[in-house]
Amino acid sequence: MPDVRQAPVGVFDSGVGGLSVLGEIHRLLPQESLLYVADCGNIPYGEKSPEFIRERCRQVAEFFQAKGAKALVLACNTATVAAVADLRERYPHWPIVGMEPAVKPAAAATRSGVVGVLATTGTLQSAKFAALLDRFANDVRVITQPCPGLVELIEAGDLASPAMRQLLQRYVTPLLHSGCDTVILGCTHYPFLKPLLAEMVPASVAIIDTGAAVARQLKRLLNERHLLADGPAQPAQFWTSASPDHFRNILPLLWNKSDIVQSF
Ligand code: DGL
Repeated sequence: MPDVRQAPVGVFDSGVGGLSVLGEIHRLLPQESLLYVADCGNIPYGEKSPEFIRERCRQVAEFFQAKGAKALVLACNTATVAAVADLRERYPHWPIVGMEPAVKPAAAATRSGVVGVLATTGTLQSAKFAALLDRFANDVRVITQPCPGLVELIEAGDLASPAMRQLLQRYVTPLLHSGCDTVILGCTHYPFLKPLLAEMVPASVAIIDTGAAVARQLKRLLNERHLLADGPAQPAQFWTSASPDHFRNILPLLWNKSDIVQSF
C-alpha cells in the first residue's frame, strides 16, 4: 500500500505564471513532489469565459486525480474565481488551495489609504473580487487596473523588452498618479515583473503578492490531514497544452531548474 504522504501535489495555472507559486511551495516544502500543468494552449484565461475556465479546470483536476495527487493548488487568481467552488463541490475531501488578490493585507498596510490592484479582466470583473472588496476594503480607496497583453509577453519569456516596459508603464502610471502606496499583484504571472516594477515605482510603494501565503495555506492543510511528506521529493514534472519545447526553453528563466516536460 503506497504511503499517501509521499503522493505529489498538483499545481495548475493557465500558463507559466503559477511557477511563481510553485517556487514558493518548493521553498517552504522542499520535501514535497510537485506536478505542474500549464494550459499554455489557452492563455490568456483573463479574457476567457468562466464556463470555459471551469471546464478546463475540471479536466486538469481529473488528470491530477488520476496521477494520485494528494492536494490541488490553483496557482491562478482567474481560475480560482471561476472554478474553485465547482472543484470543491466535486471533490469535497480533496484539499484544494485557491488564491485571491491580497486585498486584506494591502488594506491593513496602506498609509496613503489608496491601494492599486493589477490583475486580469476576469478577476477584476468577478463577483468574488467584488465580495473581497466589500469585506476588506471599506476604509481604503482601491484603484483596479486590468492588464491585457502582459500575460502573453511573459509567456513568450519577455520580462524586460521595450514593448514590455511600455505596456507595464501604461498600467502602473494611473496607480501612481492616484496616490497608491501599495500595489497588489493579483495575477500569478506578474511577480516575474518585480525587477521591472522596482524600476518604475518609488521605493516607498510596497508591491505585494500571495504566492508565499498560498504555500503556507497548503502546508496548513496538509499538516491538518497528516499528509506532509517526509521526502525525498521526486523531480518536479510539467505538462503543457502548447509546445513542450517552448516550455522547456522558458523553464530555466522562471523555475531555475530543468525538469521533465510533457504534452497535456
Ligand atoms: N496567472 C493567471 C492569474 O493568476 C491568469 C493569466 C491569464 O490570463 O491566463 O490570474
